Amino acid sequence: MTNVGILAVSHYVPEKILTNKDLEKKLDTSDEWIRSRTGIEERRVASDDETTASIGTVAASRVLEKANCPADQVDLIIVATMTPDSVLPAVSCRVQAGIGAKNAGAFDVNIACSGFAYALALGCSYVTSGMANKVLVIGADVMTRVMDWSDRGTCVLFGDGAGAVLLGEVAEGYGLLAQELGSDGRGAEHLVIPGGAGAKPMGSKHLTDKDFTLQMNGREVFRFAVQVMGNSAVAAAKKAGITSEDIDLFIPHQANSRIIESAAKRLGVPMEKVFVNVHNYGNTSCASIPLALSEAVEAGRVKEGDKVVLVGFGGGLAWGALVFNWGGVSEIRKKADAA
Ligand code: ACO
Repeated sequence: MTNVGILAVSHYVPEKILTNKDLEKKLDTSDEWIRSRTGIEERRVASDDETTASIGTVAASRVLEKANCPADQVDLIIVATMTPDSVLPAVSCRVQAGIGAKNAGAFDVNIACSGFAYALALGCSYVTSGMANKVLVIGADVMTRVMDWSDRGTCVLFGDGAGAVLLGEVAEGYGLLAQELGSDGRGAEHLVIPGGAGAKPMGSKHLTDKDFTLQMNGREVFRFAVQVMGNSAVAAAKKAGITSEDIDLFIPHQANSRIIESAAKRLGVPMEKVFVNVHNYGNTSCASIPLALSEAVEAGRVKEGDKVVLVGFGGGLAWGALVFNWGGVSEIRKKADAA
């Protein structure tokens, strides 16, 4: 089995900023309410000519540049998203064309906000099994396109963005240590975009514009999230054979600062070891974890040999946690250069 790890990480966010103060002008809400309930201060909004594929392509190009990896060396592209440009084709095919990865297979993963955790676990398994050498895993969403802007309990929470990692072989002892995926479809109705597919296709009776927007039972999702975020991270850490004291950095899905704090508490990790950027971007769904990881790396918060725990949750309901021993990249690069 090949040791798989993250060779590089990068991100892209649209330029346009929508602050809580801007939302106060459109909605019966307040900066104070949004900050105190969620920690969010602002979010990014894709411009009219940006889509999930276009912002995902930028993040993908940036990560390849960081890793100094030509696009034709990528074997597989996995895009996690719940806001594809269209039902068909897959976003990953558009990204493949956008970066010119002429030797890559491509497919999408849709499991809402846990998408990146699932795609990352899947991408890792391709490398460990030897079925691929280099896998590009992208999390991208334009959540602002599926908001009901009259639903103040939901639309204030989300924003747009993309993040990408390149997976490949790392030195022994480094890389992925464990993963834990889970789901509970009994909670499917708590987070749903009902229209536009098989159950309620275009032209169905009683279909309204709201059926094409995200409908969320916030209280139920909150209850679920505080439970699974901590529990799945604990289970993954246990599988990895590490304790909470061994964890150097915890990167949870950035949905709500209160959920993040309670997950950290359950995991027994102090907030100094938790990376939080939800105040700047809101919930960017599949982009949230790679965007946070990318900013953490840029800020020098991750160093060789650090134990990093990533955990996501969301619609499905579903969740996923992964534990990495960060680094082990330069050793393999030296070996490849010498060969
Ligand atoms: N501004 C002002 N008041 C508001 C707003 C708002 N934006 N939104 C709701 N309220 C009001 C409600 O109407 C309610 O008023 P009422 O008491 O008069 O009825 C009051 O505030 C309290 O509402 P609650 O829903 O109880 O507020 P709560 O403290 O639960 O916070 C929130 C709501 C922030 C949505 C919280 O439940 C939450 O974060 N849930 C998790 C959501 C989440 O993480 N979703 C992402 C899932 S990932 C994926 O797959 C997409």
